[in-house]
Amino acid sequence: MNRVLDGKVAVVTGAGRGLGKAMALALADAGASVTLAGRTAVHLEELSTEIKASNGEALACPTDVTDEAAVERMVAATVETFGRVDILVNNSGVLTTTPLLDQPAEDWDRIIDTNLRGTFLATKAAGRHFVGQRSGKVLNVASSFALKGTPNHAAYCASKAAVMAFTRSMAVEWARHNVQVNAVAPGYFVTDINADLRADEEFTGKVLKTIPARRMGSPDELAPWLLLLVGPQSEYTTGSIAVIDGGQSLQ
Ligand SMILES: NC(=O)c1ccc[n+]([C@@H]2O[C@H](COP(=O)([O-])OP(=O)(O)OC[C@H]3O[C@@H](n4cnc5c(N)ncnc54)[C@H](OP(=O)(O)O)[C@@H]3O)[C@@H](O)[C@H]2O)c1
Repeated sequence: MNRVLDGKVAVVTGAGRGLGKAMALALADAGASVTLAGRTAVHLEELSTEIKASNGEALACPTDVTDEAAVERMVAATVETFGRVDILVNNSGVLTTTPLLDQPAEDWDRIIDTNLRGTFLATKAAGRHFVGQRSGKVLNVASSFALKGTPNHAAYCASKAAVMAFTRSMAVEWARHNVQVNAVAPGYFVTDINADLRADEEFTGKVLKTIPARRMGSPDELAPWLLLLVGPQSEYTTGSIAVIDGGQSLQ
């Protein structure tokens, strides 16, 4: 792997598994020191050990992204450990599959708080450093679900559409500070978040027919976009939303 991020420091939320883990590994592989955030400490410690075993630098930092004080501590610990912060990947996310009439308000709040409030809190905490040093990259993980109507996922789609709007607003707000804010909108990638959905073979068969590539993505297939959007070649790229879905949302 080309070490385009040598000397850079990244924070990845939801780094313990799934897309976050794949992105943290890709960042470390490209030379970045990486703070690994999420609620489950054991996952973060295991990943930290894996990165260090490959001569990378990592900090396991258990964090609930809905907790403002914890998010502030996550960024402070990053700067204390690595001396700076350059990249934030807002990846933590939760999803439930529920008809709206059955959705408890607490469930709605949990999804919006994790996916949207968590993105806001971490962007604010890291952004203070980015604006101060006149450089920084934010990559938000949205979802292609938010590009169309997806039944039984109203809270999730609303949260991810809001993440896209947040991305565009912050791109404009921080362009004059040389801070780039972009997003990826993945389609179906094989992770825990859709394990229940994928367990239903009939459902999976129907989904695959809607994906021109006729397969779901593998988490490491996000790496090329990740490295482009947080790397040195994206100084003029801001507010963009890269849809990575095997062509699913095109038809
Ligand atoms: N997989 C897909 O098909 C797909 C498609 C489009 C978008 N996405 C988005 O991609 C992101 C990653 O999802 P994934 O597929 O990798 O799912 P996943 O395997 O379920 O991972 C979700 C991650 O979010 C973390 N998380 C959840 N609540 C958190 C909280 N309150 N504070 C901190 N971390 C929290 C989880 O760690 P802990 O539980 O340890 O906190 C976990 O690391 C999500 O934003 C998801 O919406 C996924």
